[in-house]
Amino acid sequence: MKFNIILILISFIFCFHEKVISNPTPRPFNAIFNFGNSLSDTGNFLATGANLFTVIGQPPYGETFFRHATGRCSDGRLVIDFIAVAYELPYLQPYLKVIKSHQIIRKGVNFAVAGATALDVEFFNEGVRKLLWLKPSLCTTKQDCDSYFKRPLFVVGEIGGNDYNYAAFAGDITHLRDTVPLVVQTIAKVIDELIAEGAVELLVPGNLPVGCSVVYLTSFSSKNIKDYDENGCLKSFNDLAKNHNMQLNIALQTLRKKNPHARIMYADYFGAAKRFFHSPRHYGFTNGALNACCGGGRRYNFNDSARCGYKGSKVCEDPSTYTNWDGIHLTEAAYRHIAKGLINGPFSIPPLKPAFFKIA
Ligand SMILES: *[C@@H]1O[C@H](CO)[C@@H](O)[C@H](O)[C@H]1NC(C)=O
Repeated sequence: MKFNIILILISFIFCFHEKVISNPTPRPFNAIFNFGNSLSDTGNFLATGANLFTVIGQPPYGETFFRHATGRCSDGRLVIDFIAVAYELPYLQPYLKVIKSHQIIRKGVNFAVAGATALDVEFFNEGVRKLLWLKPSLCTTKQDCDSYFKRPLFVVGEIGGNDYNYAAFAGDITHLRDTVPLVVQTIAKVIDELIAEGAVELLVPGNLPVGCSVVYLTSFSSKNIKDYDENGCLKSFNDLAKNHNMQLNIALQTLRKKNPHARIMYADYFGAAKRFFHSPRHYGFTNGALNACCGGGRRYNFNDSARCGYKGSKVCEDPSTYTNWDGIHLTEAAYRHIAKGLINGPFSIPPLKPAFFKIA
């Protein structure tokens, strides 16, 4: 008798518990699959050994949020992390970690790798191939797969930035513009393949205003004041990013016509970041927008011989007052601001589905 009461009580607690935790409305997205470079890598490159950039596996990387280095190229979370939070999904696990630990990845996985380029066709193909390889663990029957693949958010980018970086730092600035159509075509092809696999919701970030990036400002500094815009950024590189974004938008328009059932959203990283490059103090970036928090001194706090994490570099007191983290990548505070612009509007075009949590 007593035993029965306990049993009833237990089942009651369980039912009640179920009711409380199960949400009547389903999540806007059931998963996130991300393809990109260091702007969204949550640990893949580190898992490969990060041979050229081992410092991302050590402090001060990760000091603000995770409190240990995760392989993210920042002091904390990235745009993709804030998207995951907003849609009540777990922080995206890097693919290389997931396959080792046989985790359940129905809520998504991250294929982004720091250093990845769009034109290294292998990288993108690899990402898509890996996703197809994972498919049997995501869904079983065709019907199950069809319904499952309709509901994740596929994020394709930012990618392309490194294609221009490598060419620019190799000294090949004149031909940068010629590579834009090739980079854009590659991105479009991947989107096409994902749609063919059943993807419906796709978010495609454009390039950041790279002319405001500390490493560019340092490497391509000019004595001619006309080379800089009103925010102190290099016009030529911002023009390159704008050109990439314009061509990407044309390609997305074509993809939308071809796939009317898919929702292809452009993520305007340029516009979202431009706000804080234009009026940094307004957004809490009291140390200006064009200085790295962590670096080896000199103007913009960037010295290629003493990069963040290496001997001779120093980390700032409060990264949230800087947009730039290590001269190349942004701070969590800057990524949060960009994510906010995408999720709360108006920098996702058309808008993302309403989020569970608004980003503060
Ligand atoms: C850059 O860093 C190197 C290594 O720490 C140092 O020897 C050099 O003086 C630094 N250069 C400047 C201009 O600060």
